[in-house]
Amino acid sequence: MRVAGDAPVTVRRLSAPHDLRAELAADVAAGMRATPKQIPSRYFYDAAGSALFEEITRLPEYYLTRAETEILGDRATEIMELVAPCELIELGSGSSTKTRLLIEAMHQVGGRRYVPIDISEAALREAATALCGDYPWLEVEGLIGDYHTDLRRLRRRGRRLVAFLGSTIGNYPPGPRRELLGEIAAALDDHDAFLLGVDLVKNVPTMVAAYDDAAGVTARFTKNVLDVINRELDADFPTDEFTHVPRWNGEQSRMEAWLRADRDMTVRIRALDMVVTLEAGEEIHTEVSCKFTREGITAELDAVGLGVCAWYTDRAGRFGLLVARPV
Ligand code: AVJ
Repeated sequence: MRVAGDAPVTVRRLSAPHDLRAELAADVAAGMRATPKQIPSRYFYDAAGSALFEEITRLPEYYLTRAETEILGDRATEIMELVAPCELIELGSGSSTKTRLLIEAMHQVGGRRYVPIDISEAALREAATALCGDYPWLEVEGLIGDYHTDLRRLRRRGRRLVAFLGSTIGNYPPGPRRELLGEIAAALDDHDAFLLGVDLVKNVPTMVAAYDDAAGVTARFTKNVLDVINRELDADFPTDEFTHVPRWNGEQSRMEAWLRADRDMTVRIRALDMVVTLEAGEEIHTEVSCKFTREGITAELDAVGLGVCAWYTDRAGRFGLLVARPV
């Protein structure tokens, strides 16, 4: 029995702390001068935004999380038997259900370490503490850091499985995506593996509905980024006078989220000493969620030296989960 206080949870910092507010200031300053105006989606996830995303994963229209969980429920054991890792490294401290399926299956093949990497210390502590309470044999080392640059700093303990779930890779346009996949490939030795979840191209109404739910949760989630800017940069975006506009871009195979100004407006961003004007109907670009094909993602992995050795989908064929290895 493990008693409170002796759980083998460590949370440590991999690199110098990021000044998120300074990064937001620089990105907003540049984004408000761009045409069209833009705000990067990485700033969606403050406490309110993270809670809204959790709510999204339970919406009837947002099939992604359920589809990926279904695949993991069916295949986690098979995946762990294929890879037999001593540790699971997860980029972003993912949703507990999916992580638990993997951790339980890893235990069956003798793996006992879980290493979530996340920029948010609070998210890491919460995930780590809950898991350790339920799995007394589990060693959790939460790493506060940025997986774009910090993966190569990890000390090697044995065979690794690096997981990047939820189609979060879809938030990266092709250039940055190739760079990130290259970083991941560089962190893998011969017998290590990469587990990647990707949302697949399908009929347009299904994809659009996933980002345009009837209850309006996605609209609140997207608009929340304006509240983040209002709070962090002392700005006065009238959040309620924007409309969430989800749009399928077939040429680039991605869903896009835009925020449309309902009227002419003048917005002050005091921390930047900046005044921004928007015309009625003007749209700010905030997010891309790229959709993939098996052939397309296989070629992208190939280009960074990773070969796909297992490919699974949910029964309805909406979502893909793959295992890739250095070739
Ligand atoms: C968490 C990035 C995978 O792009 O589908 C959900 C975020 N945005 N609804 C996605 C999101 C709008 C989600 N990811």
